[in-house]
Amino acid sequence: MRLPESQVAVLDVLSAADERTVATVVEETGLKPETVTGAAFDLRDEELVAVSEAERVDHHLTAEGEQYLTEGLPEVRLYRAAAGDEAVPIGDATDVAGLSGQAVQIALSNFARKGYGVVDAGAVDPDPDADPGADPEAAALAAVADGETEGVAAKTLDRLAERGLLARDESTVRSLVLTDDGVTAVTEGVEAAETADRLTPEMLTTGEWRDVEFAAYDVEADAPAVEGGRVHILRQTAERVKEVLVGMGFDEMQGPHADAEFWINDCLFMPQDHPARTHWDQFALDVPPMDGLPADLVDRVAAAHREGIGPDGNGYHSPWTEDVAREVDLRGHTTSLSMRHLSGHAVGELAPPQRFFSVEKVYRNDTLDPTHLLEFFQIEGWVMADSLSVRDLMGTFEEFYRQFGITDIEFKPHYNPYTEPSFELFGQHPETGDLIEIGNSGLFRDEVLRPLGVECDVMAWGLALERLLMLTYGFDDIRDVHGTLCDLDLLRETEVLY
Ligand code: PHE
Repeated sequence: MRLPESQVAVLDVLSAADERTVATVVEETGLKPETVTGAAFDLRDEELVAVSEAERVDHHLTAEGEQYLTEGLPEVRLYRAAAGDEAVPIGDATDVAGLSGQAVQIALSNFARKGYGVVDAGAVDPDPDADPGADPEAAALAAVADGETEGVAAKTLDRLAERGLLARDESTVRSLVLTDDGVTAVTEGVEAAETADRLTPEMLTTGEWRDVEFAAYDVEADAPAVEGGRVHILRQTAERVKEVLVGMGFDEMQGPHADAEFWINDCLFMPQDHPARTHWDQFALDVPPMDGLPADLVDRVAAAHREGIGPDGNGYHSPWTEDVAREVDLRGHTTSLSMRHLSGHAVGELAPPQRFFSVEKVYRNDTLDPTHLLEFFQIEGWVMADSLSVRDLMGTFEEFYRQFGITDIEFKPHYNPYTEPSFELFGQHPETGDLIEIGNSGLFRDEVLRPLGVECDVMAWGLALERLLMLTYGFDDIRDVHGTLCDLDLLRETEVLY
């Protein structure tokens, strides 16, 4: 009988009497595990080998488990530190035991669970009859470390796993044994046939293809996972947003991340003493102020702040200085780009109709929580036309979000210093059903547009890319897709569908 080389090698080390695991065969043949597994399945298909499978669980200690193995379980340390005739105040006992922070809570709750004594009125009173020296969890930690978990009660191992001290790896162990046919084949002699894993032009021209044996592919065989690099889901979604907006007729804006307050705030009719302009909200940079702001525009913006726009206009009548306008900040929104473009200072004078967008990072001095980061991506956009209404604004959002499968956008009246009317946008979280804020929008006020030299209407918005991702993939913590807490498997496996 002629068989592929790897199958012959595997057959040679198998017997009918004793099962051999794939790992043993790998050791004895020097072949790769996936080659042995593949050969084993082929030999099973040829009925020369029987393959049995068993699930195997390996235990190992987590970092916390390792720590307790060397230092002792917190509850045992607490018991020893408080041992004596009288109850000891918790603070003293934990000090002696060297326990602090979370370890105190861990020590107290396990101390109580194991009946090591009484915790009452802020004091620990160990029970002299308890025997923490014989703590089964401590013994189990040592057994796991030695790789000898045979004799350990399943319940104890479960408890260690629940406490996060033990991790389990599950795997399938395959064992191989020769069948009767296998024994006959081996006795009669099996020769290695040279197998080809691909058809080459040479084989075709020489006619060799007629005689070669081709290796069979087993598409179900275990194979090592190859993890290539891939585009982050946030970036994939950003690209998709760009495609959608370009499809809706928008051009992309570009501009600086660090910009003069003039473009970030003043052009937007945000008074210079507005709370959102303090360091509580935005990051100021310790760099020289920006030179070369367009003088005529600066004058018109200053006049809008001081006196307002038009005969009935009214300004803030509060101090306005160019020095403040020239200070450089990290942009807290990309509306700075819209101002640069609308003013004619980015891509030249623009006549209506126009549509522009950007999908770019913005920076805010927020407190980190599940929905806020210090930086996120904003989907900025605006439409300039002769006559725009709230219906145009709502229709644009409905069309945009529909491309991501979101058809239940809700609008809520809102206030911005630079738009009137203004609307916040909400969408329903697919898992929790909560309404979450996904953006902010409105029609720019005359106090914004006239100094910029725009005589027609402009509707505009800033939407959060991360919130769009929450609606489409059901994430509920922004840190699932940003920063070091991202789950690599999620990043590897999630496909951006829209
Ligand atoms: N700048 C606003 C924000 O960051 C978004 C916005 C842009 C609102 C343009 C209205 C008009 O929330």
